[in-house]
Amino acid sequence: MEIRGDVSLAPFNTLGLDVRARRLVTAVSREDVRDAARLARAEGWPLHVIGGGSNIVLTGDLPGLTLRLALRGRSLGGQMITAAAGEDWDSLVDFSVSAGACGLENLSAIPGTVGAAPVQNIGAYGVQLSDCFEGLQAYDRETDRFVRLGPGECGFGYRDSVFKSSARARFVICEVTLRMSATFRAVIAYPGVAERAGRNPTPEAVRRAIIAIRREKLPDPVRCPNVGSFFKNPVVSTARLTALHERYPSMPAWPEGDAHKLAAAWLIEQAGCKGAGCGGAAVSDLHALVIVNRGNATPADIARLTAEIQARVRENFGVGLEVEPDRLP
Ligand code: EPU
Repeated sequence: MEIRGDVSLAPFNTLGLDVRARRLVTAVSREDVRDAARLARAEGWPLHVIGGGSNIVLTGDLPGLTLRLALRGRSLGGQMITAAAGEDWDSLVDFSVSAGACGLENLSAIPGTVGAAPVQNIGAYGVQLSDCFEGLQAYDRETDRFVRLGPGECGFGYRDSVFKSSARARFVICEVTLRMSATFRAVIAYPGVAERAGRNPTPEAVRRAIIAIRREKLPDPVRCPNVGSFFKNPVVSTARLTALHERYPSMPAWPEGDAHKLAAAWLIEQAGCKGAGCGGAAVSDLHALVIVNRGNATPADIARLTAEIQARVRENFGVGLEVEPDRLP
């Protein structure tokens, strides 16, 4: 296990914020994960875990020890796919579709690593990770052991899990197992998917359709540093939605359990924030839910822009917006 001191994290977060890690360990094995966690505990250092850096917002330099998960390996046996935390998520989707396994195609082209997928219960175009999640293996910092956790222990919700809240500091996810289906059921109700997937769609056709839609709608993090959706879509009661529709009849909304999900992107655009900027940070011209680093954005720029968007949406619609990616430290 190699410890590097005072390292810029700019290459390790897709928002491209140039903050520094006091110490950085790149873990390539379970032993590295355990050794780094033990060292942090012995020294009394805070431990920050990062994967592909595509769903984190760095709010400042990271003290203590930053652990970058780069464990590799994946396998398909029966209906189960198992992959190490450091594998690229979309490569896994490609691997599964090419092997004739079904269920992940709607989650194509989501940036990030396999280990990060359960943390925010990644979701897109009518499917979320929890739909096919079988279990994961994690290092438990409380007991200094590797444990297996099933779906019931992960507390999955809309872009949410226990790893974002109560168990955030406890588990380091090392490996994820997903259950594929033997028979293909195309999930193509989301606007634009069916048209692109064609008649009698195959998993490959759905994957191609999703990749094309994402490429068209979302800024590419490689050319335009970003972390995807910056806010969750707010969920409101039926009474609240009725009141909102009286004033704003064209406000988009979708049923979500007993409640309704609003489109944060629509609220942000209607509040006049699309394209708005603070220093190096700006609301994407392409999709109002995405904040981009247009060059040299600082954590303070991101924080100011976030507060301004939240204030304007609240002033206009009385609706609060919650930041979706994980904030570190
Ligand atoms: N809209 C606007 N202005 C915009 C963009 C969109 O008004 O600039 C409106 C449109 O009316 C559209 C609605 O917002 O009907 C919803 O937009 P979209 O279909 O693009 O989806 P979203 O709700 O903004 C969510 C996820 C995405 C996921 C897509 C597709 C969240 C927070 N975001 O976005 O996830 O790819 O649906 O399923 O749930 C991510 O988490 O990083 C992410 C990209």
